Amino acid sequence: MKEQLVEIQKEALAKVAEVETLKELQEIQVAFLGRKGSITTVLRGMGKLSAEERPVIGELANNVREEISGAIQGKQTVLEEAALEEQLQKEAIDVTLPSYPVKFGGPHILTSIIEDIEDLFIGLGFEVREGPEVETDYYNFEALNLPKGHPARDMQDTFYITNELLLRTHTSPVQARTMQAYKGQQPVRMICPGKVYRRDNDDATHSHQFNQIEGLYVDKNVRMSDLKGILTEFAKHMFGQDRDIRLRPSFFPFTEPSVEMDISCKVCNGKGCSVCKGTGWIEILGAGMVHPKVLEMAGYDTKVYSGFAFGMGPDRIAMLKYGIDDIRQFYTNDIRFLKQYHKA
Ligand code: DAH
Repeated sequence: MKEQLVEIQKEALAKVAEVETLKELQEIQVAFLGRKGSITTVLRGMGKLSAEERPVIGELANNVREEISGAIQGKQTVLEEAALEEQLQKEAIDVTLPSYPVKFGGPHILTSIIEDIEDLFIGLGFEVREGPEVETDYYNFEALNLPKGHPARDMQDTFYITNELLLRTHTSPVQARTMQAYKGQQPVRMICPGKVYRRDNDDATHSHQFNQIEGLYVDKNVRMSDLKGILTEFAKHMFGQDRDIRLRPSFFPFTEPSVEMDISCKVCNGKGCSVCKGTGWIEILGAGMVHPKVLEMAGYDTKVYSGFAFGMGPDRIAMLKYGIDDIRQFYTNDIRFLKQYHKA
């Protein structure tokens, strides 16, 4: 019996040493140490032993058990560590692999142009204001010296909602609203970007909805030369330092005198080309000295205050700056078109 047990231990330890998987290890455990395992089977014969031999064999059997199960546990640890190591290898992440590209959006080209113009005028001490797109007849026309029945109302085909309510045809009503808010007491330096609406049929140069930026400067002793200085700054900022401007006499009911401003054509540098239709100049905005009636209606004393105003179209400015030949491109929003103007 003693020899049998020693033999079992030798055999078990040899098998444990060779085993390569946890499953096989478990089979060994069952075969040697299990309820029907070889040690138990040998010990069944204990009854035939003498009283002296029994404890000796019992002790030996316990030692053999401990040896074997110690070897199994040791091997189990080794195999488990190896398995974990293999799994880690398999699941390793290469953090240096390039990731999926993230697509970034960017501001709409008109937003960029408007923000650029805002930045310029904020730097010159102007504030940025807003006004409603659904406007009253009073602010859109009357407060701007365009009483009912005035022929100049026809210059702007209007979407009327009721007799008194309309979609603003220009951002000029914000002039009247701002001066009223200041109650005729304080200087005003403001610009107002926003959407405006006209009953036009859409084509390459017309859109029923487009953008304008209004400007208004009211203070003591404001002169035409101040207007010219500010607008020159603006033209150079938008179109480059070597641009010239010129003012041509024009008519707007809310300014007197009124002018239209041209910038020298940047395509031909003023020599004349197809973009400027051979004139060397490109019309860019309307402006003038605020009409005394407009100042008075808004509560400003024209003996003390004077002002200038201007109105420009960021759509047109973007078209000139980037050579875009169809205003509808801004509103149909083809991403291939818009993407060209995203800043990196
Ligand atoms: N409101 C005019 C328009 O839509 C543009 C304009 C011209 C605005 C002269 C002004 C100005 O403030 O002084 O055609």
